[in-house]
Amino acid sequence: MMPQVDQHPLTEKHASVSMSLGELLRLSQRILDENNVAAPKRNAEIIICSELKIERAELYLNLRRTVRLDEILSIKEKIKRRISGEPVQYITGFTEFYGLKISVNNSVLIPRPETELLVDKALELIKNRKEKTEILEIGTGSGCIAIALARNSDCRINATDISPEALKTAEENSRRNHTNDKISFELSDVFGINDVSRYDLIISNPPYIPLEEMKSLSDEVKAEPEIALTDFSDGLNFYRKVFSLVKDSTSGHDVLIEIGDSKRSFVKSLAESYGFSSVFYKDYSGIDRVIHIKT
Ligand SMILES: C[S@@+](CC[C@H](N)C(=O)[O-])C[C@H]1O[C@@H](n2cnc3c(N)ncnc32)[C@H](O)[C@@H]1O
Repeated sequence: MMPQVDQHPLTEKHASVSMSLGELLRLSQRILDENNVAAPKRNAEIIICSELKIERAELYLNLRRTVRLDEILSIKEKIKRRISGEPVQYITGFTEFYGLKISVNNSVLIPRPETELLVDKALELIKNRKEKTEILEIGTGSGCIAIALARNSDCRINATDISPEALKTAEENSRRNHTNDKISFELSDVFGINDVSRYDLIISNPPYIPLEEMKSLSDEVKAEPEIALTDFSDGLNFYRKVFSLVKDSTSGHDVLIEIGDSKRSFVKSLAESYGFSSVFYKDYSGIDRVIHIKT
């Protein structure tokens, strides 16, 4: 049977004997490992560092430091949450995106490293334009894409989402990253938008997992909001909507949208059915991750 965290010496009785940071790290790693949590050492480091508000380097410089009982008990609770399948970023409340600290909670998708490609490509486009770029972001979530663009270029962004809770988190993140003067946040359902003519660039990492693939997701991914993951259809509804918006528009646009693994041929054919030719960019794992359309 799987050892439970309560059966380990991370209990009040044993912990009160006093424990060093090194012992706590080893024990936390062991418990996570025995409960089949992937990357147990990294998870233990992240949880301990966030609880003690220290950087990873400080952890290893202070392995002999005695840890207080209240700190041990709080770390134990977080390890229990991690073992139950909660993503470590929701437990600590933060993640990193494009070198920026982004606060996350269970109302927003946890920004993924591969989404940084969307930002790279958008920045290339923005830097080649003479005038200030007007951007529409669809589905801003934590605000990570808009904030990364605002921090790294001269642009104006209307960042939209259907979720009021996500927008609240995005606005807090924008404030914390000092990008409020460049981003306006708007509660909006993309399927209610009918005019995008004022935007030079439309960018989105939409919910693209087909409904029928939702069952096969890991518990960790299932902890994220359903509306951030799926379009409750075939995973292509957001592409259809954006393609029809730019087709009907009176002005020209660049469109950059993230795509799911192995979805290139579906999205390419869909774009062609609207009369658009497309370019795809690969992420760092060599997977086609972003579609670019120029109208
Ligand atoms: C895949 S998440 C992307 C979040 C963030 N941009 C990122 O890359 O981490 C998709 C976002 O789209 C939002 N969304 C879902 N349906 C929407 C709709 N109909 N209109 C606008 N936004 C929607 C979700 O709330 C979610 O925040």
